[in-house]
Amino acid sequence: MTPDRPHRRAVPAGRISRLHRLGALTTGISGRLAVDGARSLLRGDPLDLQKLLLTPANARQLADDLARMRGAAMKLGQLISMEAGDVLPPELAQILSRLRAAADPMPPQQLKTVLRDAWGSDWRRAFRRFDTRPIAAASIGQVHRARLRDGRELAIKVQYPGIAESIDSDVANLGALVRLSGLLPKGFDLVPYLDAARVQLRTEADYLQEAREITTYARMLGDTEAFLLPEVLPEWSTRSVLSMSYIPSRPIETLAEASQSERDQAMRRLLALFLDELFRFRTVQTDPNFANFRHCPTTGRIVLLDFGAVRTFEPKLVEAVHSLVAAGMAQNLAAVEAAAETLGILSNTTPAAFRKSFLEIAAMVFSDLRQEVFDFGTSDLLERLRETGRALAAEPIAPPEIPIDLLYLQRKAAGLFLLGTRLRARVAVAELVEPHLGPRGSYGAGGVLSKTTSFKHG
Ligand SMILES: Nc1ncnc2c1ncn2[C@@H]1O[C@H](COP(=O)(O)OP(=O)(O)O)[C@@H](O)[C@H]1O
Ligand SMILES: [Mg+2]
Repeated sequence: MTPDRPHRRAVPAGRISRLHRLGALTTGISGRLAVDGARSLLRGDPLDLQKLLLTPANARQLADDLARMRGAAMKLGQLISMEAGDVLPPELAQILSRLRAAADPMPPQQLKTVLRDAWGSDWRRAFRRFDTRPIAAASIGQVHRARLRDGRELAIKVQYPGIAESIDSDVANLGALVRLSGLLPKGFDLVPYLDAARVQLRTEADYLQEAREITTYARMLGDTEAFLLPEVLPEWSTRSVLSMSYIPSRPIETLAEASQSERDQAMRRLLALFLDELFRFRTVQTDPNFANFRHCPTTGRIVLLDFGAVRTFEPKLVEAVHSLVAAGMAQNLAAVEAAAETLGILSNTTPAAFRKSFLEIAAMVFSDLRQEVFDFGTSDLLERLRETGRALAAEPIAPPEIPIDLLYLQRKAAGLFLLGTRLRARVAVAELVEPHLGPRGSYGAGGVLSKTTSFKHG
C-alpha cells in the first residue's frame, strides 16, 4: 500500500511543495497533481488514488470524491489527532481538516434520486415542505429540514450515494495521501488507525444502526431535564436516510456568552454524562465534535446529536479505566502505572522515555482535577501537557500503539476539555468523579448518578 522507495524520488522534492499540491487538491481549486510525478509514484500501486489525482477538470467528479473522503478524513483525524500528545505535525492535521471542509452539497436532482430510492416515488405527498438546501453538513451526508403534512418538523440526514461502497477505497486513498505528504512521524504505523477508521465508518454508514443507538441511548439516559435527544421516525428511516424530530437549538459555543453559572452547569452536566456513559452504561458517544452538542435556549437543555459513533466497551476495559481514575484521584502513581499496564498503554517493551512522560502526564492531570473547583478558563493544563508531548515527540522513539478503544475515550475526554475551555467553565470535577470511585461491584441498582441526583439538579 505504501509507495515504495524508488518511486518516492519522483515526488516533487520537499515537504512544502508536496503539501501545496495536496492543499490544492483538497480545496478542489486545482485538482491536478504534477501528473508525471504522480504517475510514476503510483506505478504499480493498486489504489484508486491514481484515478482520483488524474480526474479531468471535472469539478463534479472531484467534489464527489472529496465529499466521500471527507468522511474518511474526519474519522482518521478523530483517531490520530491527539490534543495533548501532538503526535501529528500541524501541517498534516491541516490537510485532514481541509479535507473535512471540502464537501459540496448534493445537487437537488441527486438528492431527489436518493430520496426516491429510499421512500418510493410519491414521498413528496406526505410532506408539506422539504428544503432541498441542507441546514448542515454531515460527515458522510447532509442534513435537511422538512415538515410532514401532519405538521411534524423533521431533520433528515441523507447519505451521499455510493458512500457505503467506497469506504474501503476512500480510507486507502486517504492513507496514501497522508503518506504522500511525508509528514508522518518516523516509525508511526498508520495501519491500525486506517483499520479502525474503516470499521467505524462502516458502522456509521448504516443509519438504521444509528437509529437503534439513539433509541437505546435515550432509554439508558431515562427521564432527564438536562438533555434533549431527537426522536427517530422509523417509518421514514433507511440505511441511508435518517429521519428525526427537528430540535431548534443553537451551537453549544453560543453558551460562551452566557452567565458563569449557566456555563458551569452545562459543563458539569456534560462531564457527569461522560462519567455515567463510561462507568454506568459502558456505552459512550465517542465523537466530541462541538457540533454534536447544541443548546436549546427555551428549555436550557443540552441537545445531544449524532449517535453514529456510540461504542459499548468491554467490562474489563471499563474496570481498568476505573482503576486508573481511582488511582489517579488518590495520587497513587504506582497503581496508575499498574492500571496502564492492564490497559495496554504501557508494557515491558515501552520505551522508558514514554513511560516517564505518561506518568508525568497522569500526575499533572489528576493533581489538577483534584482541585476543589477546576477552572477550565484559567487552567494551563493543556499547555503543560502539550509541552510534555512535544518533548516526547523529540525523542527518537516511535509512539507506541494505543488500543483503539482508549483512543476513542481519550478523544472524547480531550473534546470535552476543549469545550470546557471554550466555555470558561468552573466545575468541581473531583466531586463529580467521587461517587463513581467506590468498588465497581457497588454499581447497579442504586446507580451512582441516578436521574434524580445528576441531571435533575445538575
Ligand atoms: N435532530 C436534529 N435537529 C436539528 N438539527 C440537527 C438534527 N440532527 C442533526 N442536525 C444538524 O446536523 C448536523 C450534523 O448532524 P450529525 O448527526 O452530527 O451528522 P454526522 O454524524 O455526520 O456528524 C448537526 O451538527 C446539527 O447541526
Ligand atoms: Mg456530528
